[in-house]
Formats: sequence, structure tokens, C-alpha cells
Amino acid sequence: MACKTLSYFSIFLFVLSFLEPLANGQLDYNFYDQSCPNLPMMVRWGVWAAIRNDTRMAASLLRLHFHDCFVNGCDGSVLLDDNPYFKGEKNALPNRNSLRGFEVIDSIKADVERYCPSIVSCADILTLAAREAVILSGGPSWPVYLGRRDGLTASEKAANDQIPSPIEPLDNIVSKFASNGLDLRDVVVLSGAHTIGFAQCFTFKRRLFDYKGSGMPDPLMDSSMVSTLQTTCPNLDASNSKLAPLDVQTVFRFDNAYYKNLMTNSGLLESDQALMGNPETAEMVNSYSMYPYLYSRDFATSMMKLGNIGVLTGQAGQVRTKCGSVNYYYY
Ligand code: HEM
Ligand SMILES: *[C@@H]1O[C@H](CO)[C@@H](O)[C@H](O)[C@H]1NC(C)=O
Repeated sequence: MACKTLSYFSIFLFVLSFLEPLANGQLDYNFYDQSCPNLPMMVRWGVWAAIRNDTRMAASLLRLHFHDCFVNGCDGSVLLDDNPYFKGEKNALPNRNSLRGFEVIDSIKADVERYCPSIVSCADILTLAAREAVILSGGPSWPVYLGRRDGLTASEKAANDQIPSPIEPLDNIVSKFASNGLDLRDVVVLSGAHTIGFAQCFTFKRRLFDYKGSGMPDPLMDSSMVSTLQTTCPNLDASNSKLAPLDVQTVFRFDNAYYKNLMTNSGLLESDQALMGNPETAEMVNSYSMYPYLYSRDFATSMMKLGNIGVLTGQAGQVRTKCGSVNYYYY
């Protein structure tokens, strides 16, 4: 009998050993179960209300999480305002007048502080918010492991250096992902986040008029798409901040249309269409364009990897009381 119990126990451990790699580092799926049991509902409600008011907010929250994780890991550094000790990331080139959703995270954080003061990090709230945004846009769900701590610093320079640019070559983008432990498939899969949201004209305008001094539009952009975009984004500085949908088919729907667009030269950013310029990534694009379930599954997997980049746990960092500033007593 004891022997049988023991062997059941060892089967249990054996099964656990396969599940273990899912729980990356010291993060824990049940981290706030006792200390803040309503956390997931509070985040869900806050994200839902924000999206109901402004549909684009789903895309903006997803991008905010990505930009957080690519600089100092997922530690809420992107949320910090400039202060006398450092220039933060909000005003870095890829972020300034571009990142959105700070007030949404600040307001969810204020709600959470009311029920569970000084318990839940801003980094965890942002990670949960990104998942809710994808779910509410019709995309997949995935388990979010929790217990991230908030960083004590932020860096404008690191944001300038480490966030991928839409006009840099695929190889550069791949190496920026690799420095965060993300592989080529993650590049293709996470780029598919551009199935929702918008880009300002200046981020792709050079494709429309005089591409690399050719006097012609980018030959890798479908010609009817070029004409439509020339109307949205006339060749004048005044059009720089006008918006075009990243996925022209279903801009608010999290689906695999992004990949279908790439198959027909209808990717908006150069960095999007560039995924067709490498045989390995083109093959992945092709399969995601055909198999939406494959895409949902792989997006969930890559988002879990994204959310685990460089996390602070245990006694590292702190739990901020306000997401925009480091708690005072740490100086
Ligand atoms: C692969 C390299 C990437 C590049 C070069 C890139 C570049 C850009 C650019 C230039 C914009 C438009 C910003 C603006 O005009 O203000 C944008 C928007 C967006 N990006 Fe990316 N991005 C990349 C990867 C990602 C990843 C990994 C995610 C998330 C997992 C993501 C999510 C988004 C979303 C959702 C938007 C729309 C935001 C909104 O409408 O507010 N991007 N991206
Ligand atoms: C609703 O969205 C608009 C932008 O579309 C924003 O200016 C406003 O502050 C939002 N209101 C609330 C209550 O979130």
C-alpha cells in the first residue's frame, strides 16, 4: 500500500517535471491567490472598460507590454516618468507620441491598490492587461505566471537602442530578439501582433513615394495599397502623424489576416513585409496564413516567453505604489 502510494507520488512528480518548464524562473501561476484574489478580474474589467471607450486601446496595451519587456526585462520600466536620476523610456524615439495606454495601467493600478495595497507590481498588471487585450480582440488566451517585481530604473538610451525599428533589416531585428532569448519563430509569431492597431504615416511613408531614391514606391508593396496609402499619407510633413491600419482587413480583430496580407504584399511596415524576404520566415508566414489555430497556439507560447524576459523576483526591485514613479524611500 505504502509502496503503491509512493509510486503514484513518483508518477505525480514525473508529470510535474514536464509541466515545470512552463513556470519560468520563480514566477508562479498562483502568486496572488491569497494576497489579491480578485486581481485577474480587476485587470479584466479595467481593460474591458478602456477598450469599450477606445477600441484601439487593445493594440496599445499589447505594444506597451512588448516595449516594457524589451528594455530591462518586463519590470514596468516603460511606465516610469523622467526624474532627476534618469531619463525614462516614455520619451525615447520609438515611444514618444506613439506609446499609448499609460493612463489605463495607472487607473487599474489605483483600483488594485485600493483592495490589495503594495502587493501587486505594475509589471504584472501590464502583463495581465496585454493578455486581456488580446482575448477581448478575439485572440487566444494563455496562462500568465505572476510575481514580477518593478524595476528601480529606466533608460531612454536602452529604449532607443533595443526596440526594433520598422526600417532596419530583418537580421538586426532577429538579433534584438535573440538578445532577449527569443528565436526566429518568435520574431515571426510576435510580429503578428500587427494584426491589430495602427501606425503613423511617418513609420512607412518612404515606401510610398521615393523608395530609397528610386523615384518609385517600394516594389514590395501592392500597388493598389500604395495608392490608398498615398491618399491617407500625402507626401508632406503635415501627414506624418496620420494613422493607417497595420492590418487593413480587420484592424480591431486579433486573427491571422496579418499573414494573409504579407502573402499578397500588403504588409504595412517594411519590417512586416521583410518576413517574406527570407525563405525560413516566409515558410512560417505561409503556414500561419493557412492555419489560424496553429497561429493562436504559437502566439500564446511566444507571449509567455515575452512575458518572462528578464523578470525581477523575490526581493529584487520593489512593488511600486504608483506605476509612474519609483517608491520614494528607495533613494
Ligand atoms: C518585429 C519588430 C517590430 C517593429 C519594427 C515594430 C514597429 C512598430 C511600429 C513602427 C508601430 C507603429 C507605431 C506608431 O506609428 O506610433 C507599431 C505598432 C504596433 N506594434 Fe509593433 N513592432 C514590432 C514588433 C511588435 C511586437 C513584438 C508586438 C507585440 C507583441 C507589437 C505590437 C504592436 C501593436 C499592437 C501596434 C499598434 C499599437 C497601437 O495602435 O497603438 N509590435 N509597431
Ligand atoms: C476615452 O478615450 C479617449 C481617446 O479616444 C480618451 O481621450 C479619454 O480619456 C478616454 N476616456 C476614458 C474614461 O477612459
